[in-house]
Amino acid sequence: MTFPTQRPRRLRSRPALRRLARETWLAPEDLIYPLFVRDAIDEPRPIEAMPGHQQHTIESLTREAEAALKVGVRSFVLFGIPAQKDAQGSEAWAENGIVQRALGHLREAFGADALLIADLCLCEYTDHGHCGVLEGETVANDPTLELYQRIAVAQAAAGADVIAPSGMMDGQVGAIRSALDRQGYADRAILAYAAKYASAFYGPFREAAGSAPRMGDRRGYQMDPGNAREAVREARLDIEEGADIVMVKPALAYLDVIRAVADTTDVPVAAYNVSGEYSMVKAAALHGWIDERRVLREILLGIRRAGAQMILTYHAKQVAADIPCWDELG
Ligand code: PBG
Repeated sequence: MTFPTQRPRRLRSRPALRRLARETWLAPEDLIYPLFVRDAIDEPRPIEAMPGHQQHTIESLTREAEAALKVGVRSFVLFGIPAQKDAQGSEAWAENGIVQRALGHLREAFGADALLIADLCLCEYTDHGHCGVLEGETVANDPTLELYQRIAVAQAAAGADVIAPSGMMDGQVGAIRSALDRQGYADRAILAYAAKYASAFYGPFREAAGSAPRMGDRRGYQMDPGNAREAVREARLDIEEGADIVMVKPALAYLDVIRAVADTTDVPVAAYNVSGEYSMVKAAALHGWIDERRVLREILLGIRRAGAQMILTYHAKQVAADIPCWDELG
């Protein structure tokens, strides 16, 4: 008898066999591209901490979306930076607010070819930078829900296909669902940021969106990084309230959470490969310390393998163009 009889290496011996045996794949359509659009600027402004990304004008946003569509990315999530901020964040639901205008433009430019997702939060719009209205030092949950309802309806009216509440207020999905249904938008889906952790990985985003809280932090509403079972509870509650898709965020330090949520729910699961995860790869690549293309392939396949069906990533356009060439990476 020859030893060993079990030889897993057989399936690795030739490219065609490796492809047949491969369990996890990624396509450009699995990626959702987050983009920033800023009101009252004439030229796009580079985001220093996120090389390759900008605060867009509506024109440059449209060009970037077109370039992404060309390489097969069909879905976009929009973040707005208003010209004026106030205590309530009223630009978030203004009919001519920046995201509402951007949604209209993209819809006109691309019709049904583009899936338009609107991030729904107040932190980019409030002068204090918190995701809801303040009562003293705390973010008041229930008054914030009423504002979220207004934003959801404004985004739907402007053409959003999907509303993505990211503020981590209790009951936000149910509140938004009922407002949308009441106003004739029962057809719009909700992608819930169900398990969003209080994370330092959002650092570059806060520069990009100008949304760092003036005082305090978000630990009173975002999740504690030590908790995984609580994420399953959050996802379950959001599904009960009407979420069509549940998301885990960030992705890389929370792959176990993605797996737990995928195993315990029966709706599609999304993961957000957040700004800090993007910037770390970019920084190392710019120094020549890592092979960026191969690292990105591993990162995104890892998030998929953990159980995420779709991935929000700032790398979307770049990776989508590269996917057809992945085999040559070895
Ligand atoms: C707004 C929001 C944040 C992100 C998405 N929506 C920032 C935050 O909660 O501070 C982070 C995205 C990223 O880091 O890429 N609530």
